[in-house]
Amino acid sequence: MHADAERILFSEEEIKNAVKALGKRITEDYMDEPPIIVGILKGSFIFMSDLVREIGLNCDIDFMIAKSYGSATVSSGTVNIVKDLDTDISGRHVLIVEDILDTARTLTAVKDLLMDRSAKSVKIAALLDKVTAERVSDLKADYRCFEVGNEFVVGYGLDFAEKYRGLKYICVLRPEIYEH
Ligand code: PRP
Repeated sequence: MHADAERILFSEEEIKNAVKALGKRITEDYMDEPPIIVGILKGSFIFMSDLVREIGLNCDIDFMIAKSYGSATVSSGTVNIVKDLDTDISGRHVLIVEDILDTARTLTAVKDLLMDRSAKSVKIAALLDKVTAERVSDLKADYRCFEVGNEFVVGYGLDFAEKYRGLKYICVLRPEIYEH
């Protein structure tokens, strides 16, 4: 375990099994019409790359970068699209892949934007669902691997100050690392 980690929340094996099971569900649900899979960078990059290999469909892949600003309880917080899609999604099913659903500000804005472009459907696959978070909307993950509480989690794509994204497991960071 990394010296900055307090404890491992989800091991490499647990993540692998959860991603595999999720890929199977998505494969079954979209059998008739494969979706465009949209990863929200950067946090989703590892989850996305593992998940698409567990989806047995010929899916298009695209990415967005969205940055949100504002406090957890202010629904009018701003979401800035730093990198937009290259793909025309009109009339297509879209599956957004995200590392963590926290206040839901980012995904509420992204989902609204993609629906406005006449997507046939827009669904969300989140690796982690922070169930204790104050949400800015009633948006929910259509698919998720794990629930987490109000802890500072890193690894498997998730960072603190751009560090720890490459850890193979998801862990809780020791408070002294971020409490300065
Ligand atoms: C994180 C995470 C989600 C968002 C979730 O992104 O990857 O995109 O915050 O929070 P929300 O539900 O409160 O909007 P971050 O801005 O830290 O960028 P990153 O993905 O590059 O780490």
